[in-house]
Amino acid sequence: MQLDTITNTKLRDWVAEIAALCTPDAVEVCDGSQEEYDRLSDLMVQKGTYIKLNEEKRPGSYLCLSDPADVARVEDRTFICTKDEIDVGPTNNWRDPDEMKATLKELFTGCMKGRTMYVIPFCMGPLGSPISYTGVEITDSPYVVCNMRIMTRMGKAVLDQLGPDGEFVPCLHSVGSPLEPGQQDMPWPCDADNKYIVHFPAERSIWSYGSGYGGNALLGKKCFALRIASSMAREEGWLAEHMLIMGLTSPEGEKKYIAAAFPSACGKTNLAMLIPTVPGWKVECVGDDIAWMKFGEDGQLYAINPEAGFFGVAPGTSMHSNQNAMLALEKNSIFTNVAKTPDGDVWWQEMTDDAPPRLTSWLGEEWTPDCGKPAAHPNARFTAPVSQCPIVDPAWNDPKGVPIAAILFGGRRSSVVPLVNEAFNWRHGVFLGSVMASEKTAAAAGKVGALRRDPFAMLPFCGYNMGDYFAHWLKIGEREGAQLPKIFYVNWFRKNDAGTFLWPGYGENSRVLKWVFERTTNQSEAVETPIGFLPASGAINSDGLSVSADAMEELLSIDTGEWKAEVEDIKEHFKQFGDRLPQGLMEELQLLEERLSKA
Ligand code: OXD
Ligand code: MN
Repeated sequence: MQLDTITNTKLRDWVAEIAALCTPDAVEVCDGSQEEYDRLSDLMVQKGTYIKLNEEKRPGSYLCLSDPADVARVEDRTFICTKDEIDVGPTNNWRDPDEMKATLKELFTGCMKGRTMYVIPFCMGPLGSPISYTGVEITDSPYVVCNMRIMTRMGKAVLDQLGPDGEFVPCLHSVGSPLEPGQQDMPWPCDADNKYIVHFPAERSIWSYGSGYGGNALLGKKCFALRIASSMAREEGWLAEHMLIMGLTSPEGEKKYIAAAFPSACGKTNLAMLIPTVPGWKVECVGDDIAWMKFGEDGQLYAINPEAGFFGVAPGTSMHSNQNAMLALEKNSIFTNVAKTPDGDVWWQEMTDDAPPRLTSWLGEEWTPDCGKPAAHPNARFTAPVSQCPIVDPAWNDPKGVPIAAILFGGRRSSVVPLVNEAFNWRHGVFLGSVMASEKTAAAAGKVGALRRDPFAMLPFCGYNMGDYFAHWLKIGEREGAQLPKIFYVNWFRKNDAGTFLWPGYGENSRVLKWVFERTTNQSEAVETPIGFLPASGAINSDGLSVSADAMEELLSIDTGEWKAEVEDIKEHFKQFGDRLPQGLMEELQLLEERLSKA
């Protein structure tokens, strides 16, 4: 679309300002049409960025291989800029806003030379929803445009909704690789050694430079829907969370919605699309990564999925682990850093029981099963439309959102943490969220396997001081007339001494969901323990389950000694927040310690 299709004054000024700064060869306003998507996809095929997949095997789909130096979110290059350093807290990288702006302006000067600058109007959440917000991303990456078309509601309808004076979050992105006249472009341009993912919460803006990958570049996702939105939510009294949203229907036809927070690559996408093994129960998917929740007039928290697509971790996804995801990505999808089969389809670790004998790896190299290297990068991704999920919830696009009856927290813990426990009350639930911990995965740079505390799964995504974030959660619980969800903590990843998983996970997690569902109305039995309510013996249905009685007991047991050590670790964790740690959480810790000492 032409520039003069923009009627919004603030947007027109901003586009002109950025065009003058970045000096692209051309400016295009994205309309979000299929024609535009196809044209940009063809362009990327010509440039070597994309490989068109076999139309019969994977219709309308593309493979993209990134620069090996640009494969994940870069937390150490992610910055929050506030006047006072204390306001970003100990878990974020702080920079002075003026100094950072000066650095960025220098980097962005002329950075789109030789490229087209795309203007992407997008809406996070259903159009017309009181829970949704608008953003506009300016980028020089057609890969970003195509991904944003799947991941958000994007294009002309959003511009129309914005109108002449609507507000939007400006999101500026460049791969940081200007082209001199005649210079040959790279298939995946980036500035790998010079990445900046920068947030200005006070002015609600985002500047991202140097990376074209995932959350670094698709700015609606982590940068806007979590970091900037969490700060907006605090100011406005709502919640922007790293949570999946699912609908759960009982055999009697009663439906409840559950939101669940897990750190990156801990199976959120699998849980969001689970196929229950408990007869008669049904799961439907609203979202797999982010939830925005606002209070409705009835005092319940209503959630929307601000996204319109899944940007899921491919390795490990199979017809066994997540049939619904596999079906969602059968067509119209983008695959980044997976392997290619000789017949032009995609493959990744664990997609099938046996690896194909020959592949082209994510590095573009010949690959055989014995070559000693992974075929797909561990953080390889698929981008697929939510609407293609076979179990998409009928209300996934409902502007009202869905009422949340339960919130789950969890992570990967091979020991200490039982299969499930229920918080005594909201404040105790906030405590459980604040001490969440998980063994690290490949979604972010760093050592895989090490335990890190990841409060509310928001460690890399909270846009302000985490201590203030805990206080915000406590305040939500004090709202008059609030009909609050119950809070639970789950752990599918406990292992026995021999290092074997005790719980089969996947569809069998429905047994835990059933207990959670019933607990929201006190219909199933629980026992009180020092750490919360645990399922009473037999309260988790184990008919037909291949878990021994001993393993079941271990899954639902707590070891007081281990928990006392955990308390010491939590004290260390809490120390970092200094006087920003709410007193209420200190009290919860003391109460836990007292209960353990009496146990
Ligand atoms: C994601 C993440 O990409 O959490 O969803 O890393
Ligand atoms: Mn995520």
